Amino acid sequence: MKVLVTGGAGYIGSHTTLCLLQEGHEVVVLDNLVNSDPESLERVQRLTGREVDVRVGDLLDEHTVDAVLGEGGFDSVIHFAGLKAVGESVEMPLRYYRNNVVGTLNLLAGMEKHGVRTLVFSSSATVYGANDNVPLNEKCELDATNPYGRTKEQIEDILSDLGAADPRWRIALLRYFNPVGAHESGLIGEDPQGTPNNLLPFVAQVAVGRRPVVKVFGNDYPTPDGTGIRDYIHVMDLAAGHLAALAYLGSAKGVFRWNLGTGRGSSVLEVIAAFSEAAGSAIPYEFAPRRPGDAAISYADPSSALGDLGWSAERNLAQMCADHWRWQKANPHGYKIPDPT
Ligand code: UD1
Repeated sequence: MKVLVTGGAGYIGSHTTLCLLQEGHEVVVLDNLVNSDPESLERVQRLTGREVDVRVGDLLDEHTVDAVLGEGGFDSVIHFAGLKAVGESVEMPLRYYRNNVVGTLNLLAGMEKHGVRTLVFSSSATVYGANDNVPLNEKCELDATNPYGRTKEQIEDILSDLGAADPRWRIALLRYFNPVGAHESGLIGEDPQGTPNNLLPFVAQVAVGRRPVVKVFGNDYPTPDGTGIRDYIHVMDLAAGHLAALAYLGSAKGVFRWNLGTGRGSSVLEVIAAFSEAAGSAIPYEFAPRRPGDAAISYADPSSALGDLGWSAERNLAQMCADHWRWQKANPHGYKIPDPT
C-alpha cells in the first residue's frame, strides 16, 4: 500500500512510519515540523534500510495538500498532524481549532477530490473527559474538558458525519490512552519541546539530569496510593494498532472507534518506581497540588480492538520504562545536539 502519513516526523508518527516500512508499505510523510525534528525520519530510514519520502508542508495550505494527494497512487492516509498541548490550547483556542479542525477539513477535501477514502485518525482518550467510570469503553459519553480535547471530539464528529453521508469511506478513530516508551533501538523516541507536559518525558528528563525533581500532581485522589492512575501504552504497541486498523479497513466500510490501551492502570508513584528501576537510580519526587482538569483514574476497556482487530498491547510498564530510558539516555537532548556555549 501507499500511505500518506501526516505528522509522520512526530513521536507516534515516526514509530508508525517505521512499522509501515517494515511491513513493506510505501510511505509519504507530510509534516510542517512545528513540533518535530526530521532527524526522526533519517533514523527511521537507517533502521529500516528504506526510504521515506518527506514533504515539509502544512495542512492549512490547501494547495500543498492537493498537490501531494494529486500525485496519485495513495491507498490510505494516517492522520497524526495536530497540536496537542492542553494548557496551550486553553490559552490559544483559535490556534488549536484552526490548526486541528481546519487542517483536517483541508485534508479531507484533498482526499475526496483525489478519491482516497481510507483514513486512520489519531484521536485520544481525552475525548472521554474527566470520566472516572473505568474501564472506559467506546460507548462512553464524550465530554472533552479543554479546547485540545474538543478539537479531537469535533474531528470525530466530522468524520462520523462524513462516513454517514458517503458509505464509500473507511474511517478508524483510534483513541489513544497514554503513549510512552520508544523503539527498542533507542534511536527514535519522544522529544518534547520545552517543559514536558506529560509524566513519562518529565520523569525521563529528571532521570537524565535535565531537571531536578518530579512534581507529583496530587496525592489525595481516591486511589490506593493517592496518586492519579492512567493506562500507559508502549508506542510500538500503539503503532501496531494503526497497522491492524488499516488492515481491517481493507475489508470494511464505515466509521469505527477503537480504544488503544492496555486495560491496566498504573499510578504516578508506580511509574516513578518502575522508571527508577529501569534507570538504576532513585528518581526524586515531591508532592504538589492537583493539576486542574485531571481525572483520578483512567484506563481503557480495549476489548473491541481485540475482538475486531485481533490487536492487544504486549509490552508491560517495565518494558515501557526500559525502552524510554534507553532512548533518553542515548539522546539526553532529544534529536538536537546541544550548543556547547
Ligand atoms: C494528558 C492530557 C490529555 C492528553 C494526554 C496525552 C491533561 C489534563 N490531559 O493526559 O489531554 O491526551 O496527556 O498523553 O493534560 N503527572 C504528574 N506530574 C507531572 C505530569 C503528570 O504527577 O509532571 C500526573 C498527572 O496528574 C496524571 C499522570 O501523571 O495523573 C499522567 O499525566 P499526563 O502524562 O499529563 O497524561 P494525562 O493527564 O492522562
